[in-house]
Amino acid sequence: MCGIIGILGKTDVAPLIVEGLKRLEYRGYDSAGVATVKDGRIDRRRAPGKLSALEGVLKERPLKGAIGIGHTRWATHGAANETNAHPHATRRLALVHNGIIENFAELRRELKEKGYAFESETDTEVCAQLITYYLETENLPPKDAFGKALARIRGAFALAVVFLGEDDLMIGARRGSPLALGRGDGEMFLGSDSYALAPFTNRVTYLEEGDWAVVTRSAFQIYDAAGRPVARPETLSSAADAMVDKDGHRHFMAKEIHQQPEVIAHTLSRYLDPASETVRLPDGSFDFAKLDRLTISACGTAYYAGLVAKYWFETWARLPVEIDIASELRYRAVPYAPGGGALFVSQSGETADTLAALREARRNGQKIAAVVNVLESSIAREADVMFPMAAGPEIGVASTKAFTCQLAALAAVAIAAGRARGVLDETEERRLVRALLGTPRLVAEALKSADRIEKIAEEIARAQDVLYIGRGVSFPLALEGALKLKEISYIHAEGYAAGELKHGPIALIDDAVPVIVIAPSDALYEKTVSNMYEVMARGGRALLISDRKGIAQAGDKVWRAIEAPEVEPMLAPIVYAAPIQLLAYYTATTKGTDVDQPRNLAKSVTVE
Ligand code: M6R
Repeated sequence: MCGIIGILGKTDVAPLIVEGLKRLEYRGYDSAGVATVKDGRIDRRRAPGKLSALEGVLKERPLKGAIGIGHTRWATHGAANETNAHPHATRRLALVHNGIIENFAELRRELKEKGYAFESETDTEVCAQLITYYLETENLPPKDAFGKALARIRGAFALAVVFLGEDDLMIGARRGSPLALGRGDGEMFLGSDSYALAPFTNRVTYLEEGDWAVVTRSAFQIYDAAGRPVARPETLSSAADAMVDKDGHRHFMAKEIHQQPEVIAHTLSRYLDPASETVRLPDGSFDFAKLDRLTISACGTAYYAGLVAKYWFETWARLPVEIDIASELRYRAVPYAPGGGALFVSQSGETADTLAALREARRNGQKIAAVVNVLESSIAREADVMFPMAAGPEIGVASTKAFTCQLAALAAVAIAAGRARGVLDETEERRLVRALLGTPRLVAEALKSADRIEKIAEEIARAQDVLYIGRGVSFPLALEGALKLKEISYIHAEGYAAGELKHGPIALIDDAVPVIVIAPSDALYEKTVSNMYEVMARGGRALLISDRKGIAQAGDKVWRAIEAPEVEPMLAPIVYAAPIQLLAYYTATTKGTDVDQPRNLAKSVTVE
């Protein structure tokens, strides 16, 4: 997590660094800071809390200097206070860091014994002090001191450093956390992603794993992990096109929820040919006919999208699917079959656990595919085949449009798999493609219930605990609904497979615990509704989300109902995601929480 930026500019860079940090705030917002070098001296400003707090500090005490680094923090080691905020400075340098230094305790001990004093509780400060140690005791030039320190640091990180007395030098490194270099006209930029660099340049070079770079205003030299000079390709980034305003909505999350019909359609257009009603997959995709098993992995919302896809691959393609959360999969002794396939799902493409699970699967001889939104991300670049989503930048920390675009892409891939394996015939493929093509319209229709959902949310906002239940493809959606509610409204919520309720969770039911029942009219509708009656029989308040037929059939004893459009049952999660998201959104706005930047979270989880 954390976002870092560095600029070697022509004028004072602090305002530009803040502009870049605004685009990185999705990576963390516990504190922020900037350091510049002016006339050879290092000066810095830091503030706990969001970037706006740092802006306030900079307004009172502006920073001069045409070279500088900035940081927005998601705290890992040490509280979110000013002392722990980056940049961390020593007598010789200032440094910003994204990631985790695993051997920081050992290095800290060693440096303390050598007389180096630490002011923060962070793991980061050891990097600053270690480089300083090599500068001072071995009298090494910055590049050599940095290289020597880098060889001693273990963990996953990206770094950017400026040095006392050096007005035209910055050094950056990438190991496990992303880092991009931007080339301007007589200026250079370093940043955690191309969005941060977009206001300044679209000429972007991505450092590869283990790379580090010595940067001046006129040139940069990249070195690989072994210290050999290497050339990395420059790409023209499209991040500058990213719309980062709220489009008249109160929050990015609201904008993103309402963008879904459009972005799902964009995503589908990458896979579906409406004329022939067939699916086309990118070149180099899995040979599904020969695949014995598919492993799917992801984190959070992306994992729930993968869980829905498991039902699709099994039903439409009769393909055995193993699915696990990436933070578990990466450490399990999975008996991967030779020649198997593994599919990773990620909006950001930078989630540390997902990336590590991907690498583990590759080490075990799996062919790797990824459903990714950020096409320039590490996961996108490391996959053998990429199944793109076209959600556009998702700024709200709670994932919404990325989820439905993940589902859209995964549905298309699963249909193609079914066709390749001879499970779906041409007629069935056409029927499913038609149904899939219809989902953007149905999502738009579902969004029309926003006003009603807002009223219901006012009642949900008074609850302390909320349960979500669903069966089949609606089970992962129950999990997603609970995640959405808890992360932005801070109400405790859990999702359960409806059939599991009576195996324990039903003990929680009373009239203070609303139960959200996701039950489209499908083959499992009656089973789920029976579970809903069991809740009602125990005084529980049931909120049923179903189509007109399902709501009518459930009778008038149901506490509240939200009507969703009728949809091909297997595709219901794509459409039912909208009311689920709106319910969480309005519950949060009723409670007045920080919807786009909920406490303790970050958009991109680049640490384990
Ligand atoms: O960028 P990714 O899709 O890999 O992120 C995975 C999760 O961190 C993410 O979905 C997270 O759970 C969201 N905050 C959920 O809204």
